[in-house]
Amino acid sequence: MSMIDKKQISERAAEVLRENDRGTYTVPTKGLYPFQWNWDSCLTALGLAQIDERRAWQEIETLFEHQWDDGMVPHIVFHQHDDGYFPGPDVWETNRPVPTSGITQPAVAGFAVKRLFDRARDVKLAREKASALLPKITKWHQWFYENRDPAKTGLVAIIHPWESGRDNSIDWDDAFERVPTEGVQAYQRRDLSHANPDHRPTQEQYDRYIWLVQKFRSLQWDNSKLHDASPFQVVDPGFNGILIRDCQETAELAEALGEDEVAALNRQWVANGLAALDTLWSEKYQQFVCYDRAAAKLVDSASIGGLLAVFANVSEAQAKTIADRINDLAGRAKFLVPSHDPIDPRFDGKRYWRGPAWLIVNYMIADGLIRADQTETANRIVSSSLDLILESGFAEYYDPIDGEPCGGSRFTWTAAMVLEFLREL
Ligand code: DGY
Repeated sequence: MSMIDKKQISERAAEVLRENDRGTYTVPTKGLYPFQWNWDSCLTALGLAQIDERRAWQEIETLFEHQWDDGMVPHIVFHQHDDGYFPGPDVWETNRPVPTSGITQPAVAGFAVKRLFDRARDVKLAREKASALLPKITKWHQWFYENRDPAKTGLVAIIHPWESGRDNSIDWDDAFERVPTEGVQAYQRRDLSHANPDHRPTQEQYDRYIWLVQKFRSLQWDNSKLHDASPFQVVDPGFNGILIRDCQETAELAEALGEDEVAALNRQWVANGLAALDTLWSEKYQQFVCYDRAAAKLVDSASIGGLLAVFANVSEAQAKTIADRINDLAGRAKFLVPSHDPIDPRFDGKRYWRGPAWLIVNYMIADGLIRADQTETANRIVSSSLDLILESGFAEYYDPIDGEPCGGSRFTWTAAMVLEFLREL
């Protein structure tokens, strides 16, 4: 890529971030997602830091201002009223001063904070901000292991597909069959007026999403009850890989700040998590797969969740095999990394997490591969990501076969990831 291209793309990416900035937080994109989303914000902070460091810290601080007393950090903060999104605060009914959703999302806050800290131009500011966030992030990790791993297996379960971020992945299909749809109150979806219905989850999936929300709401969002009460409990290697890496980064940050006890606590979760992750390795698919905890069986689905686990410190052999898998996928998809293997008849290149490529996931997989010395495959993912931007703009996700931009447009975290990719070049 020429210097001119690089400069132009950076400027366009910065423009997207500015457009979606609401002062103290950033919306993922206007219309479709008009509030603050948890992992969107943390990953966005990485891009923001290249423009305005103080604003980047503020993005994460704003999110943690809405952390629950039990330690959970909710997946949406409804900072202001907006009828254009469903389900809004009246459906969640979490009874918070500023309404939030009642479930969580992949934990990337520790990773983002460590990265901001390591790259800080204003070192004093970074120390101050990181020191204040450290106990909050650790409390969130603790919440995960206490509430989503009650049997102390080392791995946490998600209890709603929205928690994974991979809302309609093929991974959840079988487990979702156990989530009923009877008793779901009448509702009107809003996403379909902002995005092409063929790119979004189906109506049946939405009914089940809402059934789960109603179920948890009927238990007053008491996290000590939700895990066991949920018919949907899935252990996702991607979600756990991210959480393990987050604990690892938090441990390193704690050491740098002289907080040895906090470091030890986070290191213990890393050790337990990595040991348990091995149980999700699939010889058949040569990657990790999900475990359906409620049905006590591995899920027969080769999704990107099993590749994303390379973001954690998996073994050298596992990282090499995952790199091989990605190179193999490149033979079936022009753009990396498809969120599902195109060889699977259930693959759908345009429908959200059933096939499309996502730049945030590309970023995390590439980062993990670089740490595991699988640089060639990582570079392949980075150049595929930049090709998508050049051809199709800053979309929410892309068809990995023809590169069509899908979902929302002018998407914040896509822009942030582009700034990150260009920074590394
Ligand atoms: C949505 O509304 O599509 C979100 O993914 C839920 O967080």
